[in-house]
Amino acid sequence: MNANAEILQHTEDGVLTLTLNRPQRKNALTSAMYATLADALERAVDAAAVRVAVIQGQEGMFSAGNDIEEFLQAPPAGTDSPVFRFLRAIATFPKPLVAAVCGPAVGIGTTLLFHCDLVYAGDNAAFSMPFVNLGLCAEGASSLLAPQMFGYHRAAEALLLGEPIYAETALELGLVNRVLPPREVNAHAQQVARKLAAKPLTSLVETKRLMKGAQQPAVLQRMAEEGAVFARMLREPAAKEAFAAFLEKRTPDFSRC
Ligand code: COA
Repeated sequence: MNANAEILQHTEDGVLTLTLNRPQRKNALTSAMYATLADALERAVDAAAVRVAVIQGQEGMFSAGNDIEEFLQAPPAGTDSPVFRFLRAIATFPKPLVAAVCGPAVGIGTTLLFHCDLVYAGDNAAFSMPFVNLGLCAEGASSLLAPQMFGYHRAAEALLLGEPIYAETALELGLVNRVLPPREVNAHAQQVARKLAAKPLTSLVETKRLMKGAQQPAVLQRMAEEGAVFARMLREPAAKEAFAAFLEKRTPDFSRC
């Protein structure tokens, strides 16, 4: 394993662990990181050595979401882009997918969790989907899955206001399975993943397929629909102002948007 890689990959006892590892940018995700994640998950579908996958960050940070500089300089275009390959890979991953989340989980750092089977959170976790505040729209099928999971009004609060949802509320909303002290979260996710990896894989895969399969076409369709709107909005004045304001560390001015 290359300890300097921005995505660390490790397979042991049937568990593929993918660790977001870009601490200097709060694990903000770039195209290269999405491509690595997508490749790893696509390979894991048929890899006999992988029975379960885990996505994790560190004790203080899950992910600051998409890299904002990249949004400005090289916005994703089309459904072949690395971010879409990653979203498709998690939405269709047939084996159990476990997430361990501590600290901020922003944007896709939260929306990817709708596609995980089990989510463990630190009591310092803060989930947010600030797409509107960035002049963007929902992504990752969150416009479909958040209302289903939270109920419409709670989803509207999360997606229209974009304010953080803290760990205990996320537990109440059904976004996470359990809240733990941050130092225990990754270890707990590993323990559960190994428990799953010891079970018959065909039973896990068939049960997951029966729970999620019927909705998969609608999820993929919504991702594509959101993606087309998102790609258009990335180039519009509101998003440009929001990104510039973030990078200049000032409050955005949407009075003309
Ligand atoms: N893209 C690019 N750079 C990012 C980033 C992102 N999404 N998130 C953080 N960074 C950078 C910051 O610009 C800062 O860079 P600097 O050291 O050159 O000033 C560095 O990472 C540290 O971030 P900072 O904001 O100082 O950390 P924090 O602990 O105070 O706050 C967050 C952490 C995640 C709450 C905050 O960084 C944040 O809100 N990030 C933007 C999240 C976002 O809007 N993502 C897009 C979702 S679609």
